[in-house]
Amino acid sequence: MRAHLDLEEQVPGVADDGVWLTCIECGETFAPFDAVRYTCDDCDGLLEVRYADLPTWEDFGGASTPESGPYGVWRYSDALPFESGVSLPEGGTPLHHVPRLEDEVGVRNLRVKHEGMNPTGSFKDRGMTVGVRVAQEVGVGRLACASTGNTSAALAAYGARGGMETLVLLPAGKVAAGKVAQASLHGARILEVDGNFDRCLDIVQDLAARGEVYLLNSLNPFRLEGQKTIGLEIMERFYADEGRYPDRIVLPVGNAGNTAALYKCFRELQRAGAIEASEVPKLTGVQAEHSAPMVEAVEEGWDEIQRWEEVETRATAIRIGNPVNAPKALPGIRETGGTAVAVSDEAITDAQRSLAESGVGVEPASAASLAGLRKLREQGRVDADEDVVCLTTGHLLKDPDAAYEAGSDPEPVPADTDAVLDHLADE
Ligand code: F0G
Repeated sequence: MRAHLDLEEQVPGVADDGVWLTCIECGETFAPFDAVRYTCDDCDGLLEVRYADLPTWEDFGGASTPESGPYGVWRYSDALPFESGVSLPEGGTPLHHVPRLEDEVGVRNLRVKHEGMNPTGSFKDRGMTVGVRVAQEVGVGRLACASTGNTSAALAAYGARGGMETLVLLPAGKVAAGKVAQASLHGARILEVDGNFDRCLDIVQDLAARGEVYLLNSLNPFRLEGQKTIGLEIMERFYADEGRYPDRIVLPVGNAGNTAALYKCFRELQRAGAIEASEVPKLTGVQAEHSAPMVEAVEEGWDEIQRWEEVETRATAIRIGNPVNAPKALPGIRETGGTAVAVSDEAITDAQRSLAESGVGVEPASAASLAGLRKLREQGRVDADEDVVCLTTGHLLKDPDAAYEAGSDPEPVPADTDAVLDHLADE
């Protein structure tokens, strides 16, 4: 029986300032910062950060009043292990209206939470601002991650900001150009591994177990604390606009860190009495069809995923066969009444183009959310009267090659006004 956050949880003796770690498998509790620890000492299960007191909306300064703090991760510090962190700053991303897409898809409300608007262009910044702060607290030297690109860019930038050494392991030839450029210029040492992302993560976990590095992949439970503020922002702003919470959040799934973080966010809001059980949005995960172990597990009704050794997709950010946060995320999808769906690379590119035509520039993995929503609407698995938020996780400029391929080609013209007009008239 998994020890998911109990709505009546007792505070254990190991708590430090009302914060502790709990193993989601066996329920063992640990002090949060006494040692470097990513999984349970006893059973190797995933750990979750727990709090004695959970905040309500009022604790954050009230919804959307001029007195409330600026939107961003640290506005929600009452729900985090620290008051502040190594910040660039992050969060406070737009929740776009997309009326044309809303009409086309045919739902009551469609909003796009554009996480590409974070400092390094992805949601990873939310996790890193907290994770690097924790790294300082536990006093580690070298920070490391395996990455399909965005985590490495964020780690490099936040490590640089915190004055710490960073090491990133990337699958050779499978990371979008913008992300490698970021990691490089922000000063990470980049190791290109002859293997896929899952192998990179195996290796960096070994390095962490040997005490060589501090692991800042989403296995690190503190990363997910920062990422749960995506949920807090969506819920707070959607409510301020519409007077109710969204019915469904559709998001791309790789390691399933965001799925786990959003589920935790909703459970904590419920435990604090800030929302009712009936107000929890349905978590709906989307994967690329040749990288879809979570979808397989949801469809088959399994409690665990089976690792896919061979994965492929144009959406390289989610080219992942072993979603390490599945034990946290699968119950989230199930218990919120959500689902998971796989989409083709062509559908992802179509969705990327459609979002761009609405002015929202995203990388391919992000567009999977819209592609998934379209498919679920076509299949009648999402209702026309639903309020839906699609999460777009990374910026268009992250993957310039994919954007070029999806967009139209530049037209060469002579350097002459009449020739330009002739060319335009030729259409
Ligand atoms: N979207 C983008 C743009 C990503 O970079 C990632 C993950 C995901 C979605 C999936 O999120 O893991 O929380 O399910 N990127 C990681 C990386 C793996 O290394 O940058 P998840």
